[in-house]
Amino acid sequence: MKERIKEILSRGPSEEVLVVDGWVRTKRDSKNVCFLEVNDGSVVKGLQVVIDKASFNNDELLSSVTTGTAVECTGRLVASQGGAQSVELALSKLDVVGPCPADYPLQKKRHSIEFLREIAHLRGRTNMIGAAMRVRSSLAYAIHSYFQDRGFTYINTPLITTSDCEGAGETFQVTTLDLEAPPRKEDGSVDYSKDFFGKKASLTVSGQLEGETYALALRDIYTFGPTFRAENSNTTRHLAEFWMVEPEMAFCDLDGDAEVAEDFLKHIFSYVLEHCSSDMDFFDSFVLKGNIDTLRHVIETPFARMTYTDAIAELEKVNSRFEFPVHWGSDIQTEHEKFLTEEVCHSPVIVTDYPKEIKAFYMKQNDDGRTVRGMDVLVPRLGEIIGGSEREADYDKLLGRIRELGLEEKDYWWYLETRRFGSVPHSGFGLGFERAVQYVTGIANIRDVIPYPRYVKSAEF
Ligand code: 4AD
Repeated sequence: MKERIKEILSRGPSEEVLVVDGWVRTKRDSKNVCFLEVNDGSVVKGLQVVIDKASFNNDELLSSVTTGTAVECTGRLVASQGGAQSVELALSKLDVVGPCPADYPLQKKRHSIEFLREIAHLRGRTNMIGAAMRVRSSLAYAIHSYFQDRGFTYINTPLITTSDCEGAGETFQVTTLDLEAPPRKEDGSVDYSKDFFGKKASLTVSGQLEGETYALALRDIYTFGPTFRAENSNTTRHLAEFWMVEPEMAFCDLDGDAEVAEDFLKHIFSYVLEHCSSDMDFFDSFVLKGNIDTLRHVIETPFARMTYTDAIAELEKVNSRFEFPVHWGSDIQTEHEKFLTEEVCHSPVIVTDYPKEIKAFYMKQNDDGRTVRGMDVLVPRLGEIIGGSEREADYDKLLGRIRELGLEEKDYWWYLETRRFGSVPHSGFGLGFERAVQYVTGIANIRDVIPYPRYVKSAEF
């Protein structure tokens, strides 16, 4: 394999002749010298290629090289005269691998992030999206290594399911029925027994339920895969298709769950600070000033803990400040999450023991009959990054909740059986992977931390 620019830039000057591939980001031409900045996407800063026009003597070829042109440059790595880089390539031979006409949309100027979303097939060639994708990749590696190093088994849960894990009904249906003329039962309703899976199916909103069954077999497992939600949430932190990391641990209660969540977040944040330093410096300079210090603070500070009831009491003190004033029983929304982390705790906070009405059916019920052992991890600036809980391990209580909520009992027969055969306390959580990328990079909109975002009215590319 040929050497990438990232590795070349870490070398010192030498007499060796190198061959460097990449795309031209910028071209600066003067009477005697031409400078190309060549980038191959392996690192945020490209390699400066210096062409001595007198000895190169091929104006026609040089003028065909424009922003976006793919080139192969041969030359020697020399100490740079300029202060912006330590080495540069003194060119001896230039080949155009792929020409690029003048209508290339990524000309040298600042493009709005909204415009870049319209050219998502090209935006990976910008500094910001390139850096975001490299950080995303490292974060995925850190997530796998965190769990693998601690003896968790990686489980792949199905993407097509016939049960709605969160019970919110916000699922994308999967069907091969003719939508114009579906088969119908005598009462006129659609006959899903004729559908591909013989019943109504949808894309998963979470791998948790299937993950639980494997935690009750292999003890500590995690999933890491795409999930789908047909939420009509047009916000900077919601996608219709996003990736979720879901550890699930048998013989573990909510306190143990919260401990792992905190340790895990600190580990993956530290990993990117250590392994993606040039990209993280770029974000700190051009996307969110002070981001690295904020992350360091999060890594070094113990996360606060607070019950939902105490959180509501704090919020009620300043209810007039909120667009949506709170009371016991109401959802904690983004503005409240920010207030709790930024102004009450000055650190991430793990809020626990929510009213059962605002949480999913599977959470362990507390003895008070009103709250469940759920937790959300909230971080400054972003709000909720993790949602989790201790699961209801008692068969009767779980069945009671399924019935109370009017869920289809027969869809959960297999899930219920795990509470009959050797049921144990167990807990887990879900980290929204894109929210984690958003948080470490400081990128404001979740649509810019995934290669091809899917959201309401948008599935181009
Ligand atoms: O809080 P949620 O809905 O929890 C679950 O799905 C549980 N089954 C997880 C578990 O206990 N195994 O979602 C978990 C996380 C949220 O905290 C958030 O970070 C992210 O997933 N998330 C989204 N990210 C992007 N777009 C959306 N529409 C999201 N919805 C949730």
